[in-house]
Amino acid sequence: MKIILALAVVLQVFISNADGYNYKEVVQKSLLFYEAQRSGKLPSDQRVTWRKDSALHDKGANGEDLTGGYYDGSPLLFPAGDFVKFGFQMSFTATILAWGLLDHQKGYEAAGSLSEGRKALKWALDYFLKAHVSENVFYAQAGSGVLDHNYWGRPEDMTEARPTYMINTTHPGSDLAAETAAALAASYLVFKDVNSTYANILLSHAKQLYSFAYKYRGKYSDAFDDIRCCYNSSGYEDELVWGAAWLYRATGDKTYLTYAENEYSTIQYYIGFSWDQKAGGADVLLAKLTGDRKYLTKMKNYCDQMITSQQRTPKGLIFISPWGSLSSTAYVMQVCLETAALGVNAVKYRAEAKKQIDYMLGDTGFSYVVGFGSKYPTHCHHRAASCPDAPAKCDWTQFSTAEPNPHVLTGALVGGPGANDDYTDLRSDYVHNEVATYYNSGFQTVLAALIELGYSSE
Ligand SMILES: *[C@@H]1O[C@H](CO)[C@@H](O)[C@H](O)[C@H]1NC(C)=O
Ligand SMILES: *[C@@H]1O[C@H](CO)[C@@H](O)[C@H](O)[C@H]1NC(C)=O
Ligand SMILES: *[C@@H]1O[C@H](CO)[C@@H](O)[C@H](O)[C@H]1NC(C)=O
Repeated sequence: MKIILALAVVLQVFISNADGYNYKEVVQKSLLFYEAQRSGKLPSDQRVTWRKDSALHDKGANGEDLTGGYYDGSPLLFPAGDFVKFGFQMSFTATILAWGLLDHQKGYEAAGSLSEGRKALKWALDYFLKAHVSENVFYAQAGSGVLDHNYWGRPEDMTEARPTYMINTTHPGSDLAAETAAALAASYLVFKDVNSTYANILLSHAKQLYSFAYKYRGKYSDAFDDIRCCYNSSGYEDELVWGAAWLYRATGDKTYLTYAENEYSTIQYYIGFSWDQKAGGADVLLAKLTGDRKYLTKMKNYCDQMITSQQRTPKGLIFISPWGSLSSTAYVMQVCLETAALGVNAVKYRAEAKKQIDYMLGDTGFSYVVGFGSKYPTHCHHRAASCPDAPAKCDWTQFSTAEPNPHVLTGALVGGPGANDDYTDLRSDYVHNEVATYYNSGFQTVLAALIELGYSSE
């Protein structure tokens, strides 16, 4: 009997190793990355202890406290893993984390990460509650994308001015307000049975932000200049649908479904699912909520097209965007996994999602997640990680040195390879080696879904 048991254990280990990667470990690590991105006063249970309190004076135009939230990590077009709190990226990140915690809670539980996952989400939500200072005023950004990029060093040592930027009735941002409404509505569902008082606060802000978005229309990137360096929005119609779909799911109030359905025909682009493009997410959510075949058919066509005809790298990565190639693919896999969960091509979509994630975790001989596996990025483009501990000096010298980052930015998914699987672990290569909070959110959600399906090696 003992021998059989021992043999079973050996066999199990053998099967596990042959079977792939420990996705649970990756989720645990990914949550550490979120801790490394925290701005404001850090809590006593902070595990990433090389990060300290920072940006403690972030304030609105009338002195409102805007401390907290997440540093984005990295804006497009500028070489510097940055310290701006970009509202649109942060709210999208939060929506996706909430979606995963809600629909793949079992995956988080199996990884032993449910409580840490909720904390990661709450860190963003608490900031949104502060930033939503009155019914039709919401702070969109803290820190200037333009000023921020002249600096290389620790967030704890920043001395540059930290202007803040709002959206309001004369300078609206329907995309930003509706995305934040989506994040808060989805999070209401996550926290409803954890702390109903908190959940109800989230929901009331979600409703206000949505009606602000709906009544006062405009693109947030037309509202103030500073954002144009970094994250222009292509349109707000998709967010109006997506936000309404989440509010309908949270409240069951048919008014929101009507909004979603009416706005649907106004969506101007359909490029799937990304921080700027919410239509793919809205389709799968509306399919789930209404059972309407029209949404499901759209998703089926989209996923089939992505899997069969989209460009691939020679080693098999579905290649969608040269910037943040891995995160772009992860978002698509996320909506295709949700489509699979509705009974569409489940075997095919799940196998593909696993294959894409395994590419990221080491199938090419290299893991694109910092601190995971035996070979991973040691020079990711991230200012804080590139700095030695204070009081040692940290400036552009650290940017240029060929030495590895003194701090391991555990759990961060880097931008990823180019179209030919080309990648060099260079700090200056921000296209391929930057990190961002929103790079990790879809990726982490896919992992939670795969764990729930029983695909983790352990
Ligand atoms: C409304 O927002 C714009 C853009 O951020 C800002 O310039 C303007 O001062 C705001 N208006 C008020 C009354 O605060
Ligand atoms: C529930 O949420 C409310 C509002 O944020 C908070 O004041 C309270 O401390 C929370 N309760 C628990 C048990 O965490
Ligand atoms: C954003 O749009 C403005 C004009 O509306 C343009 O000048 C700028 O280059 C754009 N930025 C990005 C990152 O696309």
